[in-house]
Amino acid sequence: MDLSIVILAAGKGTRMRSKLPKVLHRLAGKALLAHVIETAQALDPRRIVVVYGHGGETVPRALSGYAVQWVEQAEQLGTGHAVDTAMAVLSLSTSERVLVLYGDVPLIRHETLRDLLQGLDRTPLALLTAHLDDPSGYGRIVRDEQGEILRIVEQKDASDAERRIGEINTGILAAEGQALQRWLARLDNDNAQGEYYLTDVIALAVAEGHRVASSRATHLWEILGVNDKLQLAELERRQQQNLAQALMRQGVTLADPARLDVRGRVEVDRDVSIDVNVVLEGHCVLGEDVYIGPNCLLRDVRLAAGVRIEANSVLEQCQVGAGCVIGPFARIRPDTELDEGARVGNFVEIKKSRIGRGSKINHLSYVGDSQVGQRVNIGAGTITCNYDGANKHRTVIGDDAFIGSDTQLVAPVEVGAGATIGAGSTITSDAPAGELTLSRSKQRTIPGWQRPRKEKG
Ligand code: UD1
Ligand code: CA
Repeated sequence: MDLSIVILAAGKGTRMRSKLPKVLHRLAGKALLAHVIETAQALDPRRIVVVYGHGGETVPRALSGYAVQWVEQAEQLGTGHAVDTAMAVLSLSTSERVLVLYGDVPLIRHETLRDLLQGLDRTPLALLTAHLDDPSGYGRIVRDEQGEILRIVEQKDASDAERRIGEINTGILAAEGQALQRWLARLDNDNAQGEYYLTDVIALAVAEGHRVASSRATHLWEILGVNDKLQLAELERRQQQNLAQALMRQGVTLADPARLDVRGRVEVDRDVSIDVNVVLEGHCVLGEDVYIGPNCLLRDVRLAAGVRIEANSVLEQCQVGAGCVIGPFARIRPDTELDEGARVGNFVEIKKSRIGRGSKINHLSYVGDSQVGQRVNIGAGTITCNYDGANKHRTVIGDDAFIGSDTQLVAPVEVGAGATIGAGSTITSDAPAGELTLSRSKQRTIPGWQRPRKEKG
């Protein structure tokens, strides 16, 4: 049966106190609305329509990568009006079902939505409800003595008795499309807020003699919305817990599941181990036996088996071969590739470079725009001077070369295979293979030289 999904995202989100439209605020590294769109996609609908309004084109522009239809609701006249606005572009087939989701309820799971949609096998309307200890603010589900749903009453329109009802409307509902269209056409805004309430369709369905189905979310956090930064932070923590649990189920050892943050997608092999305060962003792939030490930030990295990232290292857009050891205090910048068994030590920065098998850059160096061969040893304090103020130039270092400490390699420059560069050299032209090259002023001693002394006043 065909399914269309409508996501409401036109609200301003005043309580976020931000110039960014609410649904673009990030949770686990992704816009709130993006979470909802991806969950909707998991249900394989015929189409997804997102109703936007506040913030104008900012929202569709920010999420233009998603294959959804954007419909503007210029004035926010209520949830009923918002769904009705979407209906105009749906061109429903006769048996089509419609599911209504919210751009600011990011953690709803597709399993829960599938359950809800099953309710439509027997009736034209199904609601996702929840029982809350504190239901204030929500619409309440009013049932008859047999427990059948009669209507939803909004907090602001509810009597004292109705306000004591603990079962609330999550807002998420599913309906037979054509019936929904019929009910929406009959909504009015004769209520405390002067809005066209989507929730009024329930009483209209009941008046037509239909039963209204209801189901519950498995977890309370699935139905929680984000209205302010406090709720955003609460859901962030909740989602981080979910992501950490998923990793542990895949066999990852986490020193503390509460001190890992995943802002993107992580793929793991067996026996990965992650110490505290690690942030993983973008798409990270962690091979077998990878160890990540405390306080590391990794963004879009691919680490092969056995890689060790020691404490306080930052790696971005790089590929690290099996058995490499990086850090502590290393910074690997984009477009860097380390081959098997390479070592990068403390206070080393590498950018846009390829480091060959087994090569070592262990202390206090900058290597940029370089190609470094195999088994090369780069001494402490080596700098590739890759930038002349206008252009970047490449440094090429052959296999088995040895670069003495405190060397500057002024690019473009090439050091041949097996070459040795004497410590403290400034290398401005190519150094031949197999030879010792150095540029250093000769050491001298001045015999009998005396330090100046302070004159006695
Ligand atoms: C709504 C429900 C209430 C439910 C609650 C759950 C109605 C009338 N009430 O109340 O029963 O308990 O959600 O959170 O539906 N929106 C638009 N366009 C509009 C109005 C709203 O896109 O014209 C979007 C908002 O951006 C928001 C969502 O719809 O994401 C809900 O709107 P809101 O006004 O917050 O509804 P509530 O008063 O919370
Ligand atoms: Ca709300």
